[in-house]
Amino acid sequence: MTKIAEIKREAAVALNSIETAQYLIEDYFGWDATKIMMEGSRELTIEEERDLRGMMDRLISGEPLQYVTGRAYFRGEYYTVSDSVLIPRPETSELVDWVLEDKREECKVLDIGTGSGIIACSIKEERQKWVVRGLDVSEKALEVAKKNGESRGVSFVQDDILSLRDKGILDDIDIVVSNPPYVLEREKVDMERHVLDYEPHLALFVPNDDALKFYRKIAQLLKESYEKVGKRRALYFEINEAFAEETMEMMREMGYTDVECRKDAWGKDRMVRGSLNHDITSPRESVRD
Ligand SMILES: C[S@@+](CC[C@H](N)C(=O)[O-])C[C@H]1O[C@@H](n2cnc3c(N)ncnc32)[C@H](O)[C@@H]1O
Repeated sequence: MTKIAEIKREAAVALNSIETAQYLIEDYFGWDATKIMMEGSRELTIEEERDLRGMMDRLISGEPLQYVTGRAYFRGEYYTVSDSVLIPRPETSELVDWVLEDKREECKVLDIGTGSGIIACSIKEERQKWVVRGLDVSEKALEVAKKNGESRGVSFVQDDILSLRDKGILDDIDIVVSNPPYVLEREKVDMERHVLDYEPHLALFVPNDDALKFYRKIAQLLKESYEKVGKRRALYFEINEAFAEETMEMMREMGYTDVECRKDAWGKDRMVRGSLNHDITSPRESVRD
């Protein structure tokens, strides 16, 4: 029979990473590092050994750790993930930070292309009074989002933003935030195999000749709703670094004001924001602090 310390050593060698082996054991048993050390000489049951070896095989074949364990860490919280949703990226946290510079007491937010729901859930975590919804076309992604969001008070709706059934969904929204698919098909050649082989292509790709497909549609729908209802709006996008200028230009042409771009921690143009007659509250004018 194999002991816990032995499988951990074996995993570290097979995966070429002590950290991944440690994380795998911690995650499987739900123990911290101290408990794993204390239990080191305990023998695995047949079921535990089968599970752990199965997980090791998946990792060795290149499957991302988050899909193998079924959870991903984002802004201090663990979220459920599956291969129907994108694994949260650190730059998306910077988009959330930008939205959270708005310190209004009350606000209605729609996260378009919510995936696992991490943007919507993180906003709700920090702004309990805000009403936050997520929208996605993928039923399977929404199953994951609901696991993450329903206990946090976030609601979700299934719809296709490119041919929206319920256009009224935008009418009472103050802030739209979106990290839509933005990788060009031709950029596939530069991508890591583990992304291409395991992450959902629906979440990633747009045609080479229509990079702004989602941005144009979302900005247009919000503008139409603004013109109909007259309510002030703010729109926050995560973007493909190669299309910052085009995205800003498109928004300005549609009548958005205060259009600006921010770089991510790697210095790449990663986020664009614009408003429709919206007072953007500076952090110093916080009503919460
Ligand atoms: C880049 S992922 C973002 C996921 C998540 N918001 C995040 O930041 O990690 C884009 C998401 O858009 C969704 N999506 C793709 N096409 C869509 C459409 N036509 N309407 C609504 N959502 C769509 C995908 O299912 C995917 O969850």
